[in-house]
Amino acid sequence: HKVVFVVKGKRQVEFLAGQRENLLEAARKAGIMIDTPCNGNGTCGKCKVQITKGKVDALSLTRLTEEEIAEGWVLACSSEIVEDIEVNVPDLASAFQNEMQITDLSENENKNIRYVRKKMLKMGMTDSNRLCCEIIQLPEPTNDDNLADEDRLKRYFRQTLGYSDIQVSLDVLRKFPDAFRENNFKIKVVYLKRGDIAEIMDVRSCLECACALYGVALDIGTTSVSACLVNMDTNEIVSKASMGNAQVKYGGDVINRIVYTEKPGGLKKLRDAIIEETINPLIGQMVQSAGITTDDIYEMCAAGNTTMTHLLLGINPDHLRREPFIPGVNTIPEMKSTEIGIRINPEGRVYLAPSVASYVGGDITAGVFAVPVWLQEEFTMLVDLGTNGEIVFGNKDFMMTCACSAGPAFEGGEISCGTRAVPGAIEEVKIDDATLKASFSTIGGEIPVGVCGSGIIDLICEMKRTGIIDGKGRISKDIDNPRIAFDEYDIGRYFVCSKELDSTAKDIYITEIDIDSFIKAKGAVFSAIHTLMESMDMPIEVLENVYVAGGIGSNLGIENAIALGMLPDIPVDKYYYIGNSSMQGCYLALTLAEGKEKIAEIGQNMTYMELSVHPSYMDAFISACFIPHTDMSLFPSLQ
Ligand code: FES
Repeated sequence: HKVVFVVKGKRQVEFLAGQRENLLEAARKAGIMIDTPCNGNGTCGKCKVQITKGKVDALSLTRLTEEEIAEGWVLACSSEIVEDIEVNVPDLASAFQNEMQITDLSENENKNIRYVRKKMLKMGMTDSNRLCCEIIQLPEPTNDDNLADEDRLKRYFRQTLGYSDIQVSLDVLRKFPDAFRENNFKIKVVYLKRGDIAEIMDVRSCLECACALYGVALDIGTTSVSACLVNMDTNEIVSKASMGNAQVKYGGDVINRIVYTEKPGGLKKLRDAIIEETINPLIGQMVQSAGITTDDIYEMCAAGNTTMTHLLLGINPDHLRREPFIPGVNTIPEMKSTEIGIRINPEGRVYLAPSVASYVGGDITAGVFAVPVWLQEEFTMLVDLGTNGEIVFGNKDFMMTCACSAGPAFEGGEISCGTRAVPGAIEEVKIDDATLKASFSTIGGEIPVGVCGSGIIDLICEMKRTGIIDGKGRISKDIDNPRIAFDEYDIGRYFVCSKELDSTAKDIYITEIDIDSFIKAKGAVFSAIHTLMESMDMPIEVLENVYVAGGIGSNLGIENAIALGMLPDIPVDKYYYIGNSSMQGCYLALTLAEGKEKIAEIGQNMTYMELSVHPSYMDAFISACFIPHTDMSLFPSLQ
């Protein structure tokens, strides 16, 4: 059957599907990305698309309203194609389409990078990287000076630059004869300093020679991937880009993606999605905007969680999700770009930050480098909030780490009107005490499409403050207000905006079930922090700095997060938002000579605590599943 996908009302993609082919599978084959947080299990309702011509066999309509069903909306994952159709893929789903967006490191992120760099330089780190470029005029060969090209270059490196030797790969050697002779032995040589050895990465003939050396810092997130292009002479960031991780079409979280690798060809599809559909297009876009070529990029420092690293390298990640949760690899040797298919200079080196355990990956070791826990005298904590919450606690003498599964609530998953932090997502909410009407702001000031993580925190906090909900997250039945309603199963909901009351385009609401998902997520994070500290006999008051990182971190209202019992009750001025700490760590590793060794050392020095087998974690989690907490002595400022 002919399927026409209309993306964002503009782009049309035609696809020939088989009889009773699943609509989500057909969309995947046609290269259309649809957000699938529950991996097609028909429970999250996020994969909804509208059938505008023809019809499908809809096997489940969970989470769709009667009105939506009447308008032709179906769940892509639970629909089979039975005739020719036209499908409208809505904005929410297509937000994860391969679209480039220029991102800016926030002011806080830039400030942190500058602060940490300065601190590291004071500590004796070298303010230069290991990439070098020389424009060299070699003496032309004669009957008396008849050294081979490679020996001629070696002599120059030994006698003039003081290296003991050079190393050249066969691919670079192949360039020598022509490059040397094209402009009478005037050449440009790019090499990597490794002690007193120079690893030759590129030789070009010098007609109009200029040294252009670039590097890429890359953060590979489960949901989005961010990169910046760095001029390695000046350390200046010349271009930035970010986009949704194209693997999202195979599953919203790491577990669903690991499960997908068990399908025939699954691992290859996930690998292609991250390399060919995400990283290489990001690099392509950055080189275009900077006016350089991919050949000018000689180095990449990347970090991702342990699953992302396995998928990038094509290593079977299956054991990451099975007890005793053992990764295939933690420390990855430096590779040539061609080994993994990253499109930079073929001799370019790719460095991946090492993981510590199945659920504490390179993004955390890079993040710890950037915070920097390992340099502080005072006790410091890094809390990275996402689908997985990772916590690192320590100082320059020791570091402990653990991870908890927060579920997708912080990123808007499993919340009826939840969305990731896309334009139109409600990110801040206030509720009027008298009318209980919400006022809010959206990302980019656009028409509201849903509520993202920081908006959910504000919303639930305001609902508690105004008495709409109690500590268990139950909506009060004593309040008579048109913004509060109960369905036929007695499940309460609160309308942030409603078509009827506010003449908005759609109803945006939160239900008691959504609030319950959030309470579990915040309970997981708080109890992880609490268990980690308690296991070391450390009271929460010893914390001098808490760095909050992750997508949710950028708009997070710390006071509200404390009031909900998500973060420890210490003075707000001890908290810092630092946004994408993993990306900052990669940038620093790229621009400081000793950066990569330091990150490797950090990986080795972190002690991992497996929470799922810790005797008191489950109790701590249950106690934390209340707003703010069942033990109010942990929240003295709220009493
Ligand atoms: Fe279809 Fe979740 S309901 S992916």
